[in-house]
Amino acid sequence: MGAPVVSIDGPSGSGKGTVSRAVAQRVGWHLLDSGALYRLVALSGIEHKLDPQDVEGHARLAGSMQVRFGTESERERVLLDGQDVTGAIRTEELGQGASRVAAWPAVRSALLERQRAFAEAPGLIADGRDMGTVVFPGAPLKIFLTASAEERARRRYNQLKEKGSGASLSALSREIAERDARDSSRAVAPLVPAADAALIDSTDLTIDAVVERVIELGRRRSLWA
Ligand code: C5P
Repeated sequence: MGAPVVSIDGPSGSGKGTVSRAVAQRVGWHLLDSGALYRLVALSGIEHKLDPQDVEGHARLAGSMQVRFGTESERERVLLDGQDVTGAIRTEELGQGASRVAAWPAVRSALLERQRAFAEAPGLIADGRDMGTVVFPGAPLKIFLTASAEERARRRYNQLKEKGSGASLSALSREIAERDARDSSRAVAPLVPAADAALIDSTDLTIDAVVERVIELGRRRSLWA
């Protein structure tokens, strides 16, 4: 594998998206939001009117869909087949859809090389569930970010509210618990920390404090100055 990778895995609402973006910004590395890829497969399936259970169809789309991510200040921007879907893929409904297609081995393997191609110089911050265990097992720094289930539901709630979509906290808690259970219990690439991952519990930490900790861990491994 070429460029160095820092993997940041963890359940939804652990803060890994925000932390990954901030770390990538600070050190000037590339960013892979792998969850967005699974969300895009689910969205692409809907747009192509696939049967929600059509595994092969979704795997085909995972291999053929045209994806573009924004760079630098526009890192959140996502284009699918030329169309701006930045907001569309962030709904909890697509989170659920993503988690369903993500349980299928054929979809996961169709995305594998696509994800590895993001590892370009000077380095990659890879955000997901299996970055340290499956996609980049040789990553020189692996982080597993967690937070209590209540705190994660509260964060998702605030995030969705900021984006203007209404959601109830209790429904979100239930959905997050469901998604966690599915992600952790699936047969392929379940959500588990890599054996050599550094665990960070962000329940009582600010985003800045978590970012500092990751920066410090990278410094100790001479990944950046
Ligand atoms: O991180 P995000 O909420 O965008 O991920 C959506 C879903 O995609 C997750 O619930 C998980 O099922 C799936 N996923 C995955 N492997 C990854 C990233 C996301 O299975 N590396």
